[in-house]
Amino acid sequence: MAPVTSLSDSVNQQLGSAISATLPEASADPLLRRSDRADFQANGILALAKKAKANPRDLATQVVAQIVTGDVIKEVEVSGPGFLNVTITDRAITDNLAARYADETGRLGVPYAAEPGITVVDYAQPNVAKEMHVGHLRSAVIGDALRAMLDFTGEKTIGRHHIGDWGTQFGMLIQYLFENPGELAPAADVDGEQAMSNLNRVYKASRVVFDSDEEFKERARKRVVALQSGDKETLDLWQQFVDESKVYFYSVFEKLDMEIRDDEIVGESAYNEGMPETARLLEEMGVAVRSEGALVVFFDEIRGKDDQPVPLIVQKADGGFGYAASDLTAIRNRVTDLHATSLLYVVDVRQSLHFKMVFEAARRAGWLTDEVTAHNMGYGTVLGADGKPFKTREGETVRLEDLLDEAVERATAVVREKAEKVGLTEEEIVENGRYVGIGAVKYADLSTSPSRDYKFDLDQMVSLNGDTSVYLQYAYARIRSILRKAEDASPAPHPELALAPAERALALHLDAFGAMVFEATAEYAPHKVAAYVYQLASLFTTFYDQCPVIRPRPAQDIVENRLFLCDLTARTLHQGMALLGIRTPEKL
Ligand code: ARG
Repeated sequence: MAPVTSLSDSVNQQLGSAISATLPEASADPLLRRSDRADFQANGILALAKKAKANPRDLATQVVAQIVTGDVIKEVEVSGPGFLNVTITDRAITDNLAARYADETGRLGVPYAAEPGITVVDYAQPNVAKEMHVGHLRSAVIGDALRAMLDFTGEKTIGRHHIGDWGTQFGMLIQYLFENPGELAPAADVDGEQAMSNLNRVYKASRVVFDSDEEFKERARKRVVALQSGDKETLDLWQQFVDESKVYFYSVFEKLDMEIRDDEIVGESAYNEGMPETARLLEEMGVAVRSEGALVVFFDEIRGKDDQPVPLIVQKADGGFGYAASDLTAIRNRVTDLHATSLLYVVDVRQSLHFKMVFEAARRAGWLTDEVTAHNMGYGTVLGADGKPFKTREGETVRLEDLLDEAVERATAVVREKAEKVGLTEEEIVENGRYVGIGAVKYADLSTSPSRDYKFDLDQMVSLNGDTSVYLQYAYARIRSILRKAEDASPAPHPELALAPAERALALHLDAFGAMVFEATAEYAPHKVAAYVYQLASLFTTFYDQCPVIRPRPAQDIVENRLFLCDLTARTLHQGMALLGIRTPEKL
C-alpha cells in the first residue's frame, strides 16, 4: 500500500473503515473535501443511505460511533441531511507537514503513481519554413506543463514534436533553391532571426515564380515526386530548409525558456517510409476503401454538409500521402515501438475532427487497443484584448518572437521599478525581467482551462495584483526574503503549538498539494495547478498579515514554527510553478 502522505488521505481511510464497519458490504467513498464549516466535510453517506434504504442521519450517527477521535481526528459531527464535519487536531496538522518537510526527496507529499505508464506527448509542433504564431505558443506551453506534471507523478513521458516538414509545398521551395543556389545561407552561419528572414525571403520569391510561371509549377510538381521517392539531391536541399528552420525554432523555444530535444523532433517526414504500409494494411483489413481513386476511411457518425459522410483520406487519387497518413503511421510507431500506454496530442481544437477520425481508424485497425488511451487536448484560440482572434493592427498574424520580446520588455520595466529597494544588480534585473515576462505569458495561458479561448492582454499579464504569475513570483521572493531576514531563527516544526486560523488554513492547503497534482494530471488540467498556487499565495498573504513572524516578534518556538510554514509554502510554490514551466527568482 502506498504510504499515507497527506492528512486528507488518512482521514479518508479512517472514515472509509468506519463506513465498512457499519455497512460491511458497502465499499463507499466518504467523498471528503475541504470545507468552511469544519476542516473537512464528507458527504458520501448520502448516496450510501439511499442505496441501503436507510435514514442518512441515522447512518451517519452510526458511522461516527465507529470513529476513534484523538490523535488525528479531534471531532466529527453529523450535520445537515447526513454530512460529516471533521475537525483535525493541530498536532496532526503540524506533524504531518513536519514529516513532509523532513523528506529529502522533495516530493512535498506527492506520491508516485501506483502504475505509471508511458505517455507520448505530441506538442510544440511548428511548421518548417513558416513563422510560428500564437497557436504554436499554446501547444508548446500547455504541452510542456502537462509533461512536467506527468513526469512528477512518475509517468514516463516521451516528447514528439510532429513538425510540418513534408508535403507538396516543399516542391516549390526546393525547385526554387535548385534553380537559385546559394539563396539560403548555411544554417551554421545564421541566428534564429536571420534564419527566419532567409526562409521568408525564399518563400516569397518562390511563390512569385510559382504563381506566374506555368512551367516552373510543373517542375515544382515533379520535385514533390522526387522528394517522396527519396532522390538524393532533392533530399539534400530539403534538409537545408529543415536545418534552417530548426535554428529558428530553437531560438524561439529558448526565448520561451523551454527545453526541446533534437531526438524528439520527429516530424511528418519521419513517417514517410511507413505510410505505404499503413495504407496497405488498412486496405487489406477493409478499414479503408477505394473511393474515386483515393483510399479513404468512412465513419457513419461523422457527417458534413448535406448529411454526406466525411471520409478520412489516407491516400489521394494521385498516390500522394497526407497529414492523416503520417498521423496513422505515427500511432503505429508510438504504440508498437515506443510502447506507449497513452497518446496525448496538444493540438488546436480546430483539428479535433481530424483526431477523432484518426483515432477511430486506428482502433478499427487494432493499432489502438483498450490498453491505450488517445486524447486530443484541443486548445482554444488566443484572442486580442478586443476579444477577436489575435492580429496586429494591420490585420496580420502576430510574430511570436515580437510578442515574447514585448512581454519581457514590459516585465523588465516592472522589475526595474522595485530593483533598487531589493538591491538587484543590472544583470539580475535583466534575468528576472525575462523570467517574469515569459512567466506572465505562460501563466495567462495556463490559468484558464486549455479548451477555452483566452485574451492576450499584456497589461493584465504583468500586473502585480490579481491572478498573475508576477503576483506569485513576488509572493515567493517575499517568503525567501523573510527566511533570509530571520537570521537568528531557523524554521522548525513545533507540533505542540496551537495553530491560529490563518495558520490552519495555510497548512491544510499545503496538505492538499499531492491530491491536487494527481487530479490535475489525470485530467490534463494545468489550470488546476495554477488555481492551487494562486490560492496558496493568497492564503500565505492572509497568514502573514495575521500571524507576525519577525516583527512584532513572538516567542522563539512560534517564530520557528511560522518560519517552517513559510519555508514549506515557498517550496510548494516553487514546485507548483515549476510544473507550469515558470521560474521563481529568489529576489525580486
Ligand atoms: N504542425 C501542425 C500544425 O501546425 C500540428 C501538428 C500536430 N500533431 C500531429 N500529430 N498532427 O498545425
